[in-house]
Amino acid sequence: MKITMIGTGYVGLVTGACFSEFGHNVICVDKIAEKIKNLTDGIVPIYEPGLENIVSKNVLEKRLKFTTELSEAVASADAVFIAVGTPSSRRGDGYADLTYIYEAVREFAQYLEGYTVIVTKSTVPVGTARQVARLVKEVNPDADFDVASNPEFLREGAAINDFMRPDRVVIGVESDKAAQILKKIYNPLYLIETPIVKTGIETAELIKYASNAFLAVKISFINEMAAICEAVGADAIALAKAIGLDKRIGGKFLHPGPGYGGSCFPKDTLALMRIFQEHGHSARIVEAAVEVNAAQKAKMVKKIRDAIGGNEAGKTIAVLGLTFKPETDDMRDAPSTTILPALLEKGARIKAHDPQGVKEAAKYLPSEITYVEDPYIACENADAVVLLTEWNQYRALDLQKIKSTMISPIFVDLRNVYHPKQMKEIGFTYVGVGRS
Ligand code: UGA
Repeated sequence: MKITMIGTGYVGLVTGACFSEFGHNVICVDKIAEKIKNLTDGIVPIYEPGLENIVSKNVLEKRLKFTTELSEAVASADAVFIAVGTPSSRRGDGYADLTYIYEAVREFAQYLEGYTVIVTKSTVPVGTARQVARLVKEVNPDADFDVASNPEFLREGAAINDFMRPDRVVIGVESDKAAQILKKIYNPLYLIETPIVKTGIETAELIKYASNAFLAVKISFINEMAAICEAVGADAIALAKAIGLDKRIGGKFLHPGPGYGGSCFPKDTLALMRIFQEHGHSARIVEAAVEVNAAQKAKMVKKIRDAIGGNEAGKTIAVLGLTFKPETDDMRDAPSTTILPALLEKGARIKAHDPQGVKEAAKYLPSEITYVEDPYIACENADAVVLLTEWNQYRALDLQKIKSTMISPIFVDLRNVYHPKQMKEIGFTYVGVGRS
């Protein structure tokens, strides 16, 4: 199949590269000439394990190309995937900003030749694919095409595996012809018996929001349970394990922590709330999850403050991990962007380490933060350590060494990486989330 991917951001790049790995001929188009040049040379602008290998291999084998030129890429395509960004609108009202989608459609529609399926891959509000169809007809009344919705469920840091071995693929289509093309594109996944859920277009668009919102609800639920566990002396980890063993509940996404972040859950929960509002409904459960998540970040600030004696002024806090989750350099809506400014405002000094995120972090965090290249250096002469992102390299720290260089051995573990009993035996004052 000949596939054109519009947009080489996170979703476009991973999807394009993985389709070429399936054996399809993929052309990725982006307006940023420098990015296209770098990608052609095998330089990948984001940190995503395994992606660089797939990109270089498929570029070398000539199945994956990068270009700024829409015309040729679109004319020859069996399917054009739209994977440009849909950030929260600048009005701050939670609506997804579809400017880039419509701009892309206006630009490429004129080049369509022969039958083409136009697929929205970006996360878009219900009705967008239909709006895309209207726009294509307006720009190119003779175009022979169908629209389809094929939402992505990739997790940053695990995107390649999520693409190659997904729990399911969702295809929202209205014509058999479009369904056949998408079936051919996803054939390697049919062969490994991946469930392919074929739905109408609106349903597919909504499935994406419902999935992310449900996961956000799960996280906020366990974070609320963690608070009550702390109050009554129960253990949220044991609780999550026990409820998760009930197959109807499932054990995933029940890890208490500093609140969810990233480029998806915060944005998509707000967008879903707006979709409800537009149709005269309110998404009360999702609204509550969003509120609980904001409160969770504030609670983490208090947790750190309480751990160091109620006042962070003049105290040095070592922060391990800045990105919203491990295995990514993404800082968008990372809990660190709320928690660290609040601590700095009260006079704390922060020494931070992150294995991949420091360059990005510096763009998002106040300039007073000192970044160091080694987690042990961050902990030297610190009044407390805060473990904020559960990178693997923080899972087996030499805790004796850390303790011996700190001013006071206080360890605030916002990801419950360590065990309270073990930490207390070493001599730490240990604070987790949902257990003591
Ligand atoms: C999320 C979804 O998991 C993907 O399926 C979806 O495709 C993607 O959004 C998207 O819409 O593009 P992602 O944001 O990369 O993926 O990361 P997650 O692994 O879902 O984590 C999101 C946040 O939840 C992180 O801040 C993480 O630390 C937090 N989290 C996750 C918890 O606090 N507890 C948990 O149990 C799980």
